[in-house]
Amino acid sequence: MQFSDQFTLLATPAHLSLVKMLLIVMFLLHLPYIGMFIGSSFFSVWFNFSGKRNNNQLHATFARDLIDMVAFNKSIGVILGVLPLLVIALIYSQILHQGNATTLPYLINSFLPIIVGLIFVYIYKYTIRMEKDIFWLVGAFGVLLLLAGYFVFIASISRFHDPEKWTFIKNPFQLLIGTHAMGSYLAFLTSSFAMTGIGVIFFFFVWGKKLKNANSDYAAYVKKFGLIIGLIFTLLTPLFIVFGLINLPDIAYSNSLIISSILVMILLAVVTNLLAKMLQGSPTRLGTHAFALFIVAFLVMILNSGIARENSLLEHNKFLALESQAMLTKIIPERAIEAGGGITDYAKGESVFKRVCSSCHRFDQKVVGPAYATVLTKYENNIQNLIEFVSHPQKVNPDYPAMPSLGLKITEIEAVAGYLLKTYQEEYKK
Ligand code: HEC
Repeated sequence: MQFSDQFTLLATPAHLSLVKMLLIVMFLLHLPYIGMFIGSSFFSVWFNFSGKRNNNQLHATFARDLIDMVAFNKSIGVILGVLPLLVIALIYSQILHQGNATTLPYLINSFLPIIVGLIFVYIYKYTIRMEKDIFWLVGAFGVLLLLAGYFVFIASISRFHDPEKWTFIKNPFQLLIGTHAMGSYLAFLTSSFAMTGIGVIFFFFVWGKKLKNANSDYAAYVKKFGLIIGLIFTLLTPLFIVFGLINLPDIAYSNSLIISSILVMILLAVVTNLLAKMLQGSPTRLGTHAFALFIVAFLVMILNSGIARENSLLEHNKFLALESQAMLTKIIPERAIEAGGGITDYAKGESVFKRVCSSCHRFDQKVVGPAYATVLTKYENNIQNLIEFVSHPQKVNPDYPAMPSLGLKITEIEAVAGYLLKTYQEEYKK
């Protein structure tokens, strides 16, 4: 049993599908943001370096603006950057409950470099106006940590598509070797950089309007940078998606996976077209469409990964469904009795017996109804049936009139049933 199995309960298929929808929402909150975060900090560190080295004022300004674009607010960093990670890990523990996915611990281990990386990049951001090289190094190191952390993160998630290999993965390096994992990571990186380029157009020229009407060299430079980076990486992304698909384990394939991958390609083609138009001089407000479409493409990529996972975990899901069915049939009668206040409330049972049943029943002799000593044997190991009979009496024995319905509360019936069986077993059973 895995550590994560200790804090996840067996869930029913209905609960699981709810949790899987939540997973999609978490990924959608997290991935586009973190993709832009990684891309922008990467380029910011780069421009900062070249600004210092070549004494290039334009690069130095762009380095500052780039990092301000993504690390503008610490709470946003926590809400979009850190919290979804924790929820994602919890959800995977739930989905993989009792699946012995050896890759799950790697997913959780990736959080350390990711969170330290985020903190370093924030330190870089707040110290960017100081002229000390050490802070530049902190930023560069932060970016490296993020790149490494997300490699482990994405690789372990794509390894969930590969249940047959789980038992063989004993160290992080085996995680890295998988070509499918590599394809997913590269697709993540290229889409992150594409998102960064498109984000630059959107946030500098449309949303923040910072450079909207600027005619400066700087505005021209930023625009060109955003469009070219956006274009190159939007074109590269499909390559790695296809690479990841080709190397997907056989069990993960299905037609819907192929169809939704084609959908991603179409969306990316439209985005490419928009970027090319803007490069040729169309107004930057097209950036809004490109940005929105790219987020949709992200969503479809997330759905894609979900489809592959569901295909791979088909057997595991069946196992969970059966287990939860077994658990429910076991728990529900017990719970019903507990909730009622109980078959063990003998004092209450005795009083109900004296008040209601005793006018027609004794244990040892027949009155209007049969002696309990002669009829309770069949209920001995089946108190539910006794409760059911007293709640809705049926005709049983032709020698007796039918027992009337007594209008008792379920708690009273449970208590009297418990009391009858106990008294019968202790005093009248032969
Ligand atoms: C008005 C009379 C009357 C009262 C009150 C009454 N019973 Fe009965 N009970 C009968 C009769 C008559 C039968 C036989 C019914 C039959 O065989 O169809 C019977 C049968 C039973 C049986 C046997 C069922 C079987 O499957 O053979 C049980 C157990 C029982 N009663 C429990 C109770 C309990 C517990 C109460 C009080 C909460 C109660 N009865 C109150 C008249 C009564």
